[in-house]
Parts: sequence; structure tokens; C-alpha cells
Amino acid sequence: MTPTVSPQQLVAAAQSARKQAHAPYSNYFVGAAVLTVDGEIIPGCNVENASYGGTICAERVALTAAIAQGKRDFSAIAVVTVDGGSPCGFCRQVMIELGAEMDVYISDEAGNFRSTTVRALLPDAFGG
Ligand code: THU
Repeated sequence: MTPTVSPQQLVAAAQSARKQAHAPYSNYFVGAAVLTVDGEIIPGCNVENASYGGTICAERVALTAAIAQGKRDFSAIAVVTVDGGSPCGFCRQVMIELGAEMDVYISDEAGNFRSTTVRALLPDAFGG
């Protein structure tokens, strides 16, 4: 049986991942957590660079780490910021590529979240 992970648990994992953020330039700390269909959670945080273009968002860190672990099927992603900010366009495109059927939980730092989907966040998406 597939282990059950609640949205609240996934948000909690993203809150925890947010503590690892390397964001000395923006001071905008972001945590993410991807849930595989098998119930595994892979965390990510934003990692900034003095050469600003080298920055990678928390969502893409989590998703690319999951891919590197051999995971391919994802059911949800949580993202946590101070103010419940919505994922950027670049991350939406990567989410469509790697987890088009994911639910997306967008949370503030206190754990207040709203639920949406990757398809709702990126309608009429470009696809290869
Ligand atoms: N950031 C994310 O981690 N995810 C997003 O969806 C939007 C932006 C990060 C990038 C940068 O480190 C900081 O937030 C400010 O843009």
C-alpha cells in the first residue's frame, strides 16, 4: 500500500527545507518538498549566487534532486515562503516537464497554504 503523506506534512517538510536556504542577496528564503507517488519526500531550498543568474529556486532544486535519485513520478510539491509567494514562471515550466500532474501547495511561513495544480499554474503550456 502506498504510504499516505498529507498536504500538511508536505508543507512541514518544505518549512524545514526552507531553513537550509542560501539567500544572502535577496534574503527571501524558500523551501520546497516534492512528494513521489511512493510517498517519499525530497526537499529543496533556494541557492543564490553572487553572480545572480547562477541562483536556483527551491522548487527546481527539489525536483532535480528527485530526478537525480531516480524518482520519476510525483504527486505533489509544497513551496513555503515568508508571504505565501507563488512559484515563478521558470519553475512552472520545469514542473510541467517533470510533474505535470502534481498538486501544488503554496504556503506562508506559518503553514497557511492554498492548494492548486501545476496545470492551473501554467495553462496552455509549451511542451516538447
Ligand atoms: N525563488 C524560489 O526559490 N522560488 C520561486 O518560485 C521564486 C523565487 C527564489 C529565487 C531567489 O533566491 C529568491 O527566491 C528571490 O527571487
